[in-house]
Amino acid sequence: MIKYVIGNWKLNPATLADATALAHAISLASKQASCHIGCCPTFLHFGAVKEILKDSSVWVGAQDVCAFGKMGAFTGDVSATQVVDMGANFTLIGHSERRSYHGETNVVLADKIRHAIDVGLVVVLCIGETKTQYDQGETLAVLDEQLSVLHGLDVPKQQLLIAYEPVWAIGTGLTPTVDEVAITHRHIKANLASQGIDDVGVLYGGSVNDNNAKELATCEVIDGALVGGASLKAESFSLIAQAFS
Ligand code: PGA
Repeated sequence: MIKYVIGNWKLNPATLADATALAHAISLASKQASCHIGCCPTFLHFGAVKEILKDSSVWVGAQDVCAFGKMGAFTGDVSATQVVDMGANFTLIGHSERRSYHGETNVVLADKIRHAIDVGLVVVLCIGETKTQYDQGETLAVLDEQLSVLHGLDVPKQQLLIAYEPVWAIGTGLTPTVDEVAITHRHIKANLASQGIDDVGVLYGGSVNDNNAKELATCEVIDGALVGGASLKAESFSLIAQAFS
């Protein structure tokens, strides 16, 4: 399976000039990597970044889409239809920062997934346990509950990727061991298979950097990486992409 390395820029960078510079650097980096590369700029920078990357192989994705509808009276939201019109290939759904800062539950996430799938986006569904849940040995049960959002949605496997991101590993410099990630990814794949969804890529996210990417990439059940902080530095992102190539 081809591997994926996706940069989640979150609420960065501060200026359009920095966002376009990063897009140019990623365009160059993509020429040295054979994995599938993607990035998720903010909605405000989306159009400019897509314009720079439109002739490259780099996917540009949304960080989120509106749950309530595709058009209409939803102040402050951006819809799946609009991001597709702007050239988006995929969207993140259910990132832990959306779950914690915006209280997103499976009910809301199911609506977002439905809208994204309807308009042809690939959904990168983000799941992961908190530190307390990890310490209490609840990781796999938490993931099962988060994956239950897919029940009854009939998501085509070509439109789905999972990003396993332990909440406690995001932005902290802490990571589970590769063996722990492998156990978790096997469990996620088995869960999906039990829902009739086979051959879906499962990415790891949480403090991936140019030092640990090589070891993660050697693990056969890690199908790529979702990268936050290190995706804002073109050189680090490029090295991570090369590790997964
Ligand atoms: P990080 O973020 O690489 O900065 O830990 C990952 C993510 O939140 O997707």
